Amino acid sequence: MPAAPFTFIDLFAGIGGMRMGFETTGGRCVFTSEWNPFARTTYTANFSETHPIAGDIREQSEDAIPDHDLLLAGFPCQPFSIAGVSKKNALGRPHGFACATQGTLFFDVARILAARRPRAFLLENVKNLVGHDHGRTFRVIRQTLEDELGYHISWRVLDAAHFVPQHRERILIAGFREPTPFSLDDLLLPPSRPKLRAILHPENGNEVPEEPYTLSPRGAVNPKYTLTKHLWGYLQAYAAKHRAAGNGFGFGLVDGDSVARTLSARYYKDGSEILVSRGPKQTPRRLTPRECARLMGFPDGFRIPVSDTQAYKQFGNSVAVPVIAAVAHAMRPWLAPGASQTTHSHRANPRILLPATAAIR
Ligand SMILES: C[S@@+](CC[C@H](N)C(=O)[O-])C[C@H]1O[C@@H](n2cnc3c(N)ncnc32)[C@H](O)[C@@H]1O
Repeated sequence: MPAAPFTFIDLFAGIGGMRMGFETTGGRCVFTSEWNPFARTTYTANFSETHPIAGDIREQSEDAIPDHDLLLAGFPCQPFSIAGVSKKNALGRPHGFACATQGTLFFDVARILAARRPRAFLLENVKNLVGHDHGRTFRVIRQTLEDELGYHISWRVLDAAHFVPQHRERILIAGFREPTPFSLDDLLLPPSRPKLRAILHPENGNEVPEEPYTLSPRGAVNPKYTLTKHLWGYLQAYAAKHRAAGNGFGFGLVDGDSVARTLSARYYKDGSEILVSRGPKQTPRRLTPRECARLMGFPDGFRIPVSDTQAYKQFGNSVAVPVIAAVAHAMRPWLAPGASQTTHSHRANPRILLPATAAIR
């Protein structure tokens, strides 16, 4: 096998959305951690493994993780229980962040970065990470990554609607061990906004049927995805009640010209955030799992070996692959071993490293 230009590890891997984005640039995954058995089933069905999938990341020793150029992690957002990593705290301690982040899954990301020192990382999270716990969560994360671990970071909230017909705002945090002329702020986004028509089953014979999602002979969507009159009536009444109370919540009825709301992991419950209109005389339907895959930018060859419930959860938890692929292409020149990195960031504020950083190196 020819040497890959760079290697990476896939933490909180889910169904491998981040991996897929970075594989488009020729990266090779050398370690995966995901503990959910259903996500592991989907992951294994889609990536020919050269390594077994590790389970709970909290139980993986950092010493057992292979060397890698890049760490990928879409870690769950959790509050930190005590005051942030003060500079005083960090000074003279190799792992000051441990006090502030112990018991959270970000701690596991930090301890692996501290031990393995990959040249870069990309972290993904909900947009709300910045405001979470009155800004404290993000402050601790920044202090840990920048002041303690000495990485040069940039972050940006990106809306997947530039790539797929779905509003999905997620924060990405990119970090480089050395000063590097890379900033997420410089990423150019396509101006066009795709419409839902691009991912809906056409139901006109132009698509090969894929059971159980669409049926022969013309690829009509399986009626099991159509809402019962009872559920549709309930959702309408619920929305009307909230409208009357001045609340904006309710279902999201879409058609081919729409851009969908964010697909959530709870879509399996009633599908109310994205309901496909079937005209005034019929009740709407949910997206099929295949349409959810497309809405997240997964190619049609992506295998869905799990139940609809699990598939909805997995796609709702995943990343929009084209967003990650765009970031991967922008980061790619700086990921390979020997990639030339400058001593000056072209950003206005090259960051100053604290002495604690030197202790870790
Ligand atoms: C937000 S999802 C990330 C999805 C992923 N980026 C993708 O493209 O599918 C977070 C994932 O972390 C996994 N997870 C949570 N805690 C974990 C732990 N302690 N060890 C390993 N995986 C964990 C969850 O099962 C879930 O699949």
